[in-house]
Amino acid sequence: MKKKFLSLILGAAMTASMMVAPAMAAEAPIDLTGVDVENATVGISIYQFSDNFMTLYRTELVRYLTELGFKEENIQVQDGKNDQAEQTNQINNFITAGVDVMILNLVQSSSAPQVTDMCNEAGIPVVYINRQPDEAESDRWEADGIKATYVGADARQSGTYQGELILETANGGDINGDGKVSYIMVQGDPENVDAQYRTEFSVKALTDAGVEVEELLLQRGDWDQAKGQQIVQDALTQFGEQIEVVFCNNDAMALGALQAIQAAGRVVNEDIYLVGVDALTEALQDTIDGTYTGTVFNDHISQAQTAVEMAVNYLKGEEVAPINMVDYVKVTSENAADVLETLQ
Ligand code: BGC
Repeated sequence: MKKKFLSLILGAAMTASMMVAPAMAAEAPIDLTGVDVENATVGISIYQFSDNFMTLYRTELVRYLTELGFKEENIQVQDGKNDQAEQTNQINNFITAGVDVMILNLVQSSSAPQVTDMCNEAGIPVVYINRQPDEAESDRWEADGIKATYVGADARQSGTYQGELILETANGGDINGDGKVSYIMVQGDPENVDAQYRTEFSVKALTDAGVEVEELLLQRGDWDQAKGQQIVQDALTQFGEQIEVVFCNNDAMALGALQAIQAAGRVVNEDIYLVGVDALTEALQDTIDGTYTGTVFNDHISQAQTAVEMAVNYLKGEEVAPINMVDYVKVTSENAADVLETLQ
């Protein structure tokens, strides 16, 4: 139900082609024929519970499963603690317990071949979320008829939207009028495609528009607010007014960046721009208040619901496509209040 509401509200911010899929998916009530929801068991492992975005995501996974009638005691949710060995152990425990399906947010997406083989040998289907295994791996699932699939969002789209947010400002990001946009990039965990693509495509949106850019710094902040704050604090000390744009691969790091920016006496949207990704509540509020240039909604609700629906399709014995993508939504001061309302 929530997904339907969200699609309606966000419709205005989407292109015509983007509107079709979410609206249609939401209208069809999910068919549970052939699924023993009373007894079906689900093993979920999240790469790290302390991740702000994945906390929203896992809450929605459990909420939606229980809304569909799955029993809370049959849903196990584990904290991978950002340690692949620990998470692989949890997956082995799920196999021993004989869960019917798994939903996995891998610590390292490069472990997908090994994890997929373990689950496949045990006859347990897997829905990977958030951290996309490489193409060779998803091609293999399809070629070999392995019951594994990925649900996520195309990070190239979110990066492009971040670049557009800067292009759409009054001076296109060139605050000091020297003919180039000087930026710092605070990156997530560089092993993730989300971090790689957002880094690449945010800047590409500028260069594709013919804008000259200067990278003052690129540093990994591992998706973490405290690291984001430290990196930007140090960068402001080192580069001062030279910094016109702060790109952060997610909102957690951008919220840390905002603390550093304000502590240094700089003013977002006046003498510096700041963009993130996710649309965390605080980032939306800051965008409304004008203390954040903008963000990109990483639709954890549609992603969580799609992941559950793919798990249900496996339980029904149906075929599942290897890759299932949900659209991002660009968020400016114009639509931030609408997005915020749908999330509350
Ligand atoms: C989100 C980040 C999150 C990461 C975890 C990304 O898609 O934007 O906030 O930390 O996923 O893998």
